Amino acid sequence: MSATSAPGGSGKNAPTAEFVRSLPKAELHLHIEGTLEPEMLLALGRRNGVALRCSTAEECRAQYHFDDLQDFLDLYFEGVRVLVGEQDFRDLTTAYLDRVAADGARHVEVFFDPQSHVTRGVPFADVVAGIAGGLRDGEKEHGISWRLIMCFLRDRPVAEAMEMLDLALDHRDVITGVGLDSAELGHPPADFAEVYERARAAGLVAVAHAGEEGPPEYIAEALEVLGVRRIDHGVAAVGDPALQRLLAARGIALTMCPLSNRALQVTPDLSRHPLKELLDAGVLVTINSDDPAYFGGYLLENYLAAQRALGLSRADLVRLARNSLTASLLPEARKAELVAELERVATRD
Ligand code: HPA
Ligand code: ZN
Repeated sequence: MSATSAPGGSGKNAPTAEFVRSLPKAELHLHIEGTLEPEMLLALGRRNGVALRCSTAEECRAQYHFDDLQDFLDLYFEGVRVLVGEQDFRDLTTAYLDRVAADGARHVEVFFDPQSHVTRGVPFADVVAGIAGGLRDGEKEHGISWRLIMCFLRDRPVAEAMEMLDLALDHRDVITGVGLDSAELGHPPADFAEVYERARAAGLVAVAHAGEEGPPEYIAEALEVLGVRRIDHGVAAVGDPALQRLLAARGIALTMCPLSNRALQVTPDLSRHPLKELLDAGVLVTINSDDPAYFGGYLLENYLAAQRALGLSRADLVRLARNSLTASLLPEARKAELVAELERVATRD
């Protein structure tokens, strides 16, 4: 029996990185601004005359230790200041697609935070043109399909979110959905009920971060009040069996991000991460990278870190990859093609 065909999930029989890389999969929870590697941060800082608190990539990386979500967000919003022109957003996006192509991603659904740019005077249209340009470049170069999802910053005024929605409606050709991110505690999903209602009425797909630092009630509220079709993170579902049954019954995916949860002290010990328990409870769990430049790994590394910490089997990894395709916004026919390819790869040896 080869190492890759081992049924067990740990020790020398663990599924290999090559096996996981070869599985067709989708990344469904990725903040494009969170792919800003220190090298690009410094280069764009120089290009745009933006002063930074670090002057070498090593110095920047040395700052990447976080007490919690807010601690990270402070640095993340400091970093985005180097993104000024359309080309900056295009370069950022192209670099991410080059990187995630090497991890075996076939489809990506990318978040962006327009408020973090528009409030600095960067035109909304430039942000969208740059990211969409990079996504199209990546599609040509690597054959990776994509969707773009605009996130509202939940710790900023609802009226500002409504303004972003107005702007987004002129870019319906590239913006497919809306999400909700930034500081979660004290900012319940229901605050954005009206914004989401308008977004859904305009045909946009709804997702929201919930249950990262916040309670399971925020997950239920995002489902019932915002009408989301996926929950980003959803870690807090682990303590709530009734909620898990609801998620499983409705086929609501959780876009989980193990390295993010470790870095932000949501689950400091990855061997206690709830993703395997939720998977076993029938929830549509997926693995994603969130803000990989800051949290120590891209898509494949998140699969591998979870595999190592939780002893995931080959069957678990195949299921996680399949879930990522199923939970994507791709047309059903394309999902079926990719799932069929996944089954062929998974049973190859
Ligand atoms: N959580 C909430 N908001 C975010 C994150 C995150 O991990 N990354 C970027 N915005
Ligand atoms: Zn996120």
